[in-house]
Amino acid sequence: MYLKMHLLSRRAYSGLLFSQGSMATCLRRGKSLIKPRLCRNISLSCQRYTVMTSWIIERYGRNDVLRFTNNMMFPVIHFPNEVIIKVHAASLNPIDVNMRNGYGAAALNMKRDPLKLKSTGNEFPLTLGRDVSGVIMECGLNVSYFKPGDEVWAAIPPWKQGTISEFVVASGNEISHKPKCLSHMEAASLPYVGLTAWSAMNQIGGLNQDNCSGKRILIFGASGGVGTFAIQLMKAWGGHVTAVCSQDASTLVKKLGADDVIDYKSGDVAEQLKMLPLFDFILDNVGGPTEKWSPDFLKKWSGATYVTLVTPFLLNVDRLGVADGMLQTGVTIGTKTVKHLCKGIHYRWAFFTPSGQSLDEIAKLVESGKIHPVVEQVFSFSEVPKAFLKLEGGRARGKTVINVINKK
Ligand SMILES: NC(=O)c1ccc[n+]([C@@H]2O[C@H](COP(=O)([O-])OP(=O)(O)OC[C@H]3O[C@@H](n4cnc5c(N)ncnc54)[C@H](OP(=O)(O)O)[C@@H]3O)[C@@H](O)[C@H]2O)c1
Repeated sequence: MYLKMHLLSRRAYSGLLFSQGSMATCLRRGKSLIKPRLCRNISLSCQRYTVMTSWIIERYGRNDVLRFTNNMMFPVIHFPNEVIIKVHAASLNPIDVNMRNGYGAAALNMKRDPLKLKSTGNEFPLTLGRDVSGVIMECGLNVSYFKPGDEVWAAIPPWKQGTISEFVVASGNEISHKPKCLSHMEAASLPYVGLTAWSAMNQIGGLNQDNCSGKRILIFGASGGVGTFAIQLMKAWGGHVTAVCSQDASTLVKKLGADDVIDYKSGDVAEQLKMLPLFDFILDNVGGPTEKWSPDFLKKWSGATYVTLVTPFLLNVDRLGVADGMLQTGVTIGTKTVKHLCKGIHYRWAFFTPSGQSLDEIAKLVESGKIHPVVEQVFSFSEVPKAFLKLEGGRARGKTVINVINKK
């Protein structure tokens, strides 16, 4: 209720045009079974809800640019398909550390302001954090699948304001009902890595529950956020998983279902892989030199696919500008695709793709006990800089979560 009041006082138009206070029935995504009751309960606001607590950056740099504030502008529904979520938990991904350093700023600013109408630095104050698990406070008028009070989870795209904040705005297409069996802390660990693995293995790699059975899957970087999710997804779909990680992570990845584990620190990985049959699919979460030799371990001329998550796209745009960066990226991916095709394998890049529908599918796998969250550590809201340092140190074993609801 206080959000409705807030919307009216701060942004009367977005509140009046796009916000929907309550909804009689939860409707199926995309298909209205019952017409929503559209309420515009108009009342006056109280001043204190015009701002919220948040961790922000006002310039790019090392960890000391992270700043806690009680005065971050309260988020506003700008489009009728948006919702405001009260954040209970967020989690960190390597992209948060990279964005703090300025990585991807050129491409993300182009997405935020395609016509370049705003001045340089307009993205600040910027809140980082992509994952959210929380409760819907307010729905735009076109949101029919969710209602205020619903517990939801989502990964917010990096050109939008992030989730290390009391409230965040998301599009209705980006959110999904949180699996009931997970706490908010657990749920916040999954959306970004889950959607990235889903994009790489399902949308780009073409794997699904009907065609994955018995397929040999090789995963580099198996102990991190994406890797721990990818192992479980492949096992849920009946694949045979070989996980490449450090020796001290082997118990974890075996527990998640990996059939074979290769310790990349105890000798040449290529030599160890030679002892095993060839693979149908490689997910590369590591990149660099791995990309050069690992596709040789795929079956030739059988539709086998190498997918990497480590691509030069954002770096090219940062370095060369939007036009030249995109051109360079196009030439690189084109050349590599053709080179690998000549050898009888598919070469692909994959990116995190926000999708409420894919999260619905992931929620089903979680509810059926096939995918479990792998939370390495939970930090309190006051410890956000510590959480960033932890992530920067590498050696992830699952996910770093931020308890946002408890402000201590
Ligand atoms: N394209 C996209 O949209 C997208 C989206 C998400 C993530 N990514 C990228 O994908 C990568 C993985 O993401 P993440 O969230 O899983 O990162 P993460 O949680 O930091 O995990 C990385 C894991 O890789 C392990 N590792 C490092 N070097 C390795 C090697 N040579 N061989 C095997 N394992 C190695 C690390 O542990 P040890 O060092 O202890 O071995 C760590 O467990 C990152 O580079 C990230 O930027 C891209």
